[in-house]
Amino acid sequence: MINRKTLLELGWILPSIAIPVGMLVAVIVSAFGMNIGVPSQAGTIQPAAIDTTPPFDQPGVLRQVGPNQYEVALIGQVWSFNPRELRVPAGAEVHFVATSRDVIHGLHIEGTNVNVMLIPGRITRQRAVFREPGQYRFVCHEYCGIGHHTMYGTVIVEER
Ligand code: CUA
Repeated sequence: MINRKTLLELGWILPSIAIPVGMLVAVIVSAFGMNIGVPSQAGTIQPAAIDTTPPFDQPGVLRQVGPNQYEVALIGQVWSFNPRELRVPAGAEVHFVATSRDVIHGLHIEGTNVNVMLIPGRITRQRAVFREPGQYRFVCHEYCGIGHHTMYGTVIVEER
């Protein structure tokens, strides 16, 4: 017969098993079922050699890598983004390859899953799909000095 004390202990023990199991399931479902993951550390680069190292020697130039899929290089620097404006067709899947020229910056594109740090010497990759035509602002979200608030730009998604 289960007495009151045993019930009370079970009331603590069962949730302490169920919660980590639930979290593990959530991680597995989001990683493998929904393809959500942290942005990759996609290589290193000499910040001084950015202007001569592909793809950063042509920032903002869309390179088609598949049907309505593009790759574009983006550089954060005090206190602007290069490019400041990017035009893509509606429905485009854009692979951003990004880095910083000087100090740590951030890149957040509104309405997308792009929310990454740009670290000097490191290359960051993140992809986003722009389904609806319109303007998507992007901003630096790491405080990077006196002109931090002027670091922004726009992705313009055009009708096909
Ligand atoms: Cu760059 Cu804040």
